[in-house]
Amino acid sequence: MRIVIINGPNINLQGLRETQFYGTMTYQELIDGVSAHAQKNNVEMRWFQSNHEGTLLDIIQSCRDKYDGIIINAAAYSHTSIAILDALLAVDLPTIEVHLSDVSTRENFRKVSYLKHACIACFQGEGLLSYLKAIDHLIEVLDQ
Ligand code: DQA
Repeated sequence: MRIVIINGPNINLQGLRETQFYGTMTYQELIDGVSAHAQKNNVEMRWFQSNHEGTLLDIIQSCRDKYDGIIINAAAYSHTSIAILDALLAVDLPTIEVHLSDVSTRENFRKVSYLKHACIACFQGEGLLSYLKAIDHLIEVLDQ
């Protein structure tokens, strides 16, 4: 099983920014924690992060025929990007949206997700655990 994890703007600053929302776990600890969980479950995982919408589109488009599923934390673009939604719809892979923080309890603009229209589930508000639950859910869905 091959899963790609795509992260959007500022996720590379994990541990250094707004720790009241995102916690103190460093970006490297996030990658390591997700990788270890993937490995334990015999999942081949690729990790991407970009601060640029166009690069995220290129990454999503390149996923077709390469992966069995996508986990995406598009960060702020989750709330604004029809282009990322369209790219996810175009590649048509089982996709899960994740957020480190609980966007449902923050500003109103964060309660809007364009990406949800291309996603089978969303895990949010649990930091690293949001990603781990997304992996588990994707495994469950792909195993069926
Ligand atoms: C985020 C939530 C977004 O609203 C925000 O713009 C982010 C991170 C999260 O993981 O909680 O950058 O996606």
